[in-house]
Amino acid sequence: MTEMIVTIDGPSGSGKSTAARTLATRLGLEYLDTGAMYRAVAWSLHRAKIDPADEAAVAQHLSHFHLEMHGNSVCINEEPIPDSELRSPENSLASSAAARFPHIRRFLISLQQQIAKGRRMICEGRDQGTVVFPKAQVKIFLTASPEARAERRWQELKQKGNPIGFEQVLANQIDRDTRDSSQNDGRLIPAENAIVLDTTGMPLEAVLDRISQEIQRCLHG
Ligand code: DC
Repeated sequence: MTEMIVTIDGPSGSGKSTAARTLATRLGLEYLDTGAMYRAVAWSLHRAKIDPADEAAVAQHLSHFHLEMHGNSVCINEEPIPDSELRSPENSLASSAAARFPHIRRFLISLQQQIAKGRRMICEGRDQGTVVFPKAQVKIFLTASPEARAERRWQELKQKGNPIGFEQVLANQIDRDTRDSSQNDGRLIPAENAIVLDTTGMPLEAVLDRISQEIQRCLHG
């Protein structure tokens, strides 16, 4: 089978993770959660007490950093990272901070390209259509209002038993959005040939249908 890459980019809470994961299952494609990769690096650097700004120490750390992802489970050097830690609000901020450094981005961009080689995959993140896979067959960019995105995130965290308040989720999100889009590194801007979809108030099934149509159009001409 020939390689096929679908990119789904957008800010946190735009619905991209749910859309990417669900569509991958429905369409028999693989799924790459690149946010989880930034989260894993941030988690690992924090645990090793390494400042993400320290390029030499980061390079040394990443030279023996073996990342494995299966479904929702993320392992570093065969040790699973608890999902509650990977996706905690603290690690969200830490991964957003780590993702600003070009030495960390270069490492993960190259790893993402290696992983996707020859595969049929939905790659989800912030820069997949612009930087990592500029030749992807289908590029989707999802947006939604800040309140709608924070509401989704808040519901998600509540379901996982996290008692954080809505106002705090919104504040964290604004903080992350500012950091994630204030860089000149191709993040959070739709690729020229991306299909841009505002999911505010859109039921999940409608979002899935729309993206699915685009993928099917590409798969079957
Ligand atoms: O999608 P997420 O919230 O799990 O991503 C966590 C952080 O990783 C996010 O704040 C920004 C960063 N990130 C990135 O810079 N580029 C990507 N392709 C994916 C995530």
